[in-house]
Amino acid sequence: MEIPLTEKELKGLKSWFAKYVKSFQHADPEIQQNITLKEDHTHRVCEAIVDIGVALGLDHDALRLAEAIALLHDIGRFEQFTRYRTFMDAKSENHAELGVTIIEREDILASLNPAAQYIIKQSVRYHNRPSLPLNESQSCLFYARLIRDADKLDIWKVVTDYYHRKHKRKNGAIELELPDSIGFSDEVFRSLTNMHPVNIHDVKNVNDFKLLQVSWVFDLNFRPTMDFLRERQYLELIRQVLPESEKINDIFKVIVTYEKSFCP
Ligand SMILES: [Fe+2]
Repeated sequence: MEIPLTEKELKGLKSWFAKYVKSFQHADPEIQQNITLKEDHTHRVCEAIVDIGVALGLDHDALRLAEAIALLHDIGRFEQFTRYRTFMDAKSENHAELGVTIIEREDILASLNPAAQYIIKQSVRYHNRPSLPLNESQSCLFYARLIRDADKLDIWKVVTDYYHRKHKRKNGAIELELPDSIGFSDEVFRSLTNMHPVNIHDVKNVNDFKLLQVSWVFDLNFRPTMDFLRERQYLELIRQVLPESEKINDIFKVIVTYEKSFCP
């Protein structure tokens, strides 16, 4: 699956990205904060995907293709937030599909190898889906799995930094404007004990949302991602901001079992 993507082509995409994000600069600090949040997220997902790719032994072309996908995976976020003032797809539109629309509208991939163009667009499209389609090529699914893992690694970083921040200023865009009520939902608990990722539709409060983030461990595709997750202790950091209860202990026992048996 040799798909060429040159250093020059990747550089071209990076300078397009920088210019594109700059066009969303906003005088309102609250809006600007969320634009910067996604810009910084993108850069860290680029690093994360390369880290995972290197650990998997990918060659230079494959690493560059992976990085291009990471660079563009959330390109829809800037227009989404500017237009709707939210990152909630359900309250605005699917930011992955919007991303593909922008990639096509701006015609930024035209000079790339057709196979690279296809894999970049499909990986962006699939990055936030509950699950991957079955009728897709193995090489495309490989890159889609890579971006899904890299994206999760960085969202864990963003939310754990946020939950453990010194100042307690709230950011509704991170917590999706959910109520910070006590307890968590039965459906969310059931998903976790069945080793399934939580469905966003079952998320009713901030605790459910934290548990959804915990449940992404069941949707990881590669050993190096699991190793990074354990090294950085993201799940333990989320556990520290969840209520203490027997049920939460049960969830984390299931996770320990899952981690031990994980063989992608
Ligand atoms: Fe995304």
